[in-house]
Amino acid sequence: MQQINHIRIFAMCGHIDHGKSTLADRIIEACGQKIDRPQVLDSLELEREHGITIKLKAIRLNYSLNSNLCTLNLIDTPGHVDFSYEVSRSLAACEGAVLVVDATQGVQAQTLANFNLARLANLKVIAAVNKIDLAQADIEKTKDELLQLCFLADEIFCVSAKTGEGVDKLIKAIIEKIPAPTIKDESQSLIFDSSLDPYKGVVATIRVFGGKILAGDEIEFLGTGACAKVLQIGFLTPKPTFVGTLVSGEIGFLVTNLKELLLCQVGDTISKKGRDVSPLPGYQKAKPVVFLSFYPTDSNDFEKLKKAFESLRLNDSSLQFKSENSPSLGFGFRCGFQGLLHAQITQERLEREFDLDLIATSPSVSYILDGKIITNPADFDPTAKKVEEPYISALIFTPKDYFGSISKLIYAHRGSDLQVESFGNQLRIKSQFPLAEVLTGFYDELKSVSSGFASFDFELADYRQADLVKIDILVNRKLVEGLSQIVPRQKAQTFASKFAEKLKEVIPRQQFAVPIQAAVGLPASQAGRRSGQGGKILARQTIPAYRKDVTAPLYGGDVTRKMKLLEKQKKGKKRMRRFGQVDIPQEAFLVALKV
Ligand code: GTP
Repeated sequence: MQQINHIRIFAMCGHIDHGKSTLADRIIEACGQKIDRPQVLDSLELEREHGITIKLKAIRLNYSLNSNLCTLNLIDTPGHVDFSYEVSRSLAACEGAVLVVDATQGVQAQTLANFNLARLANLKVIAAVNKIDLAQADIEKTKDELLQLCFLADEIFCVSAKTGEGVDKLIKAIIEKIPAPTIKDESQSLIFDSSLDPYKGVVATIRVFGGKILAGDEIEFLGTGACAKVLQIGFLTPKPTFVGTLVSGEIGFLVTNLKELLLCQVGDTISKKGRDVSPLPGYQKAKPVVFLSFYPTDSNDFEKLKKAFESLRLNDSSLQFKSENSPSLGFGFRCGFQGLLHAQITQERLEREFDLDLIATSPSVSYILDGKIITNPADFDPTAKKVEEPYISALIFTPKDYFGSISKLIYAHRGSDLQVESFGNQLRIKSQFPLAEVLTGFYDELKSVSSGFASFDFELADYRQADLVKIDILVNRKLVEGLSQIVPRQKAQTFASKFAEKLKEVIPRQQFAVPIQAAVGLPASQAGRRSGQGGKILARQTIPAYRKDVTAPLYGGDVTRKMKLLEKQKKGKKRMRRFGQVDIPQEAFLVALKV
């Protein structure tokens, strides 16, 4: 097969915060491009605020090596486990990967996870030991750990993404060690990212595997069967640069006249219209692990929320949602996410980019009841004969000193099958435990018992039978949907007591005393559950009556001050939903995570 010798396509991957985006900055500069701010590829407002990469970003650069001009296509990927779907999509478009490892921390859980993903995709991987400028960097130890991962000594490069030291050597290695792309015979391009330009249409980021695409071409999306016209073609440097054509081995974007968002799907193959072409392998669909519902605080915003979800899904193909109706929360969406951070980022994007105010219900995992999958605790039937919950295979990297507290933590979270291996100065611990435990604080506790040194990665293993019950919450004797939790029977009493106690702290006082009851075993039928009949009350708290008139101290005087205070109070009330006579704030739905 013919190769295109002057092109290299590679992804930057590694554990969170090990310096991928900063190293990308230095590579961009070494290629003669200016950057106007640090981590220039993290262009989303949320990425800059949180200091993490959320979306992959592909750019094209030119580098001159021994007077030969080489085109480097660099894809920056996120490090957090919740966004690893972005990594696997990027890897499918590459021939190689640079695995970035922080020399002050060494190999961590996502280093290994990303390394395995790259190997599975048959990529040439080279390692960049980063942050060598820091006094606490242990370069030799990090190199040893990489050698243990089967890297050869000449595949490991030391760099500082801060000072730029070693970056030219790394680029040289990328050119010399990562294979050039090969050309396929058929007209085939893989869509590995997509977004919507509200004025022009759908924009697809593609890797051309065979043939070429010209502005004005009629193209076909093989998976969805849609056809479109290519309006513009370009690539990022990181600034958008427009060209007339994209040829085999190149990465770039196509602006199309397609207006239907769902017709351009990530993983689909684009071909010239009318060609008899087979599709590229594409991607496995992302499997959501965490489920929760979003309801607009203003029920009139349902249609707006629906449109927002449709737009966001184009940009984030791991997002799954379907509409649902709850007797008290109204119309909303049940959504599947890759993890809690993914859910949080999605809520923030929906609210900022689409100007919505949302209430998010408590997160849950999926369960199998008598062979039927449920993703909402509301559908949990206490009479089911067999209940199964998802288990994960967890991987923890930790300095040896913390082994005792970490193993205790694992057992406290119903973990089992502990396997421990030495890895340089660290331990590599494998274990299996219920996914639900990850939602309820496992990760935070791990960070806390290891003084922040342990790292964690997981993948879904299987479903296992468990003795679980559902705890429902009645506020003022009315069921609050979205607060229900599924917990192990033996922990139910303790959980119910703490849950009721915490809820008391976040639900605002009313002009009358409000009882909070945690009940177990309410029937699955809405009517019975709503009234709380048929269940057993495990815990009860009472919020004392209180009348809060924020304007009371402002007797007489300036009316505008009074108006301002009332306005402030109204804003505070926005993120609440009324159940009977009581307003339940957003914090209440997150309390279960802290119990
Ligand atoms: P995610 O994409 O969120 O996984 O992070 P990342 O791997 O892209 O890391 P990022 O480039 O955002 O860097 C994380 C932090 O490390 C930032 O504060 C950087 O300034 C810092 N950093 C990155 N590389 C170096 C380096 O070589 N030396 C020093 N001293 N700091 C660095």
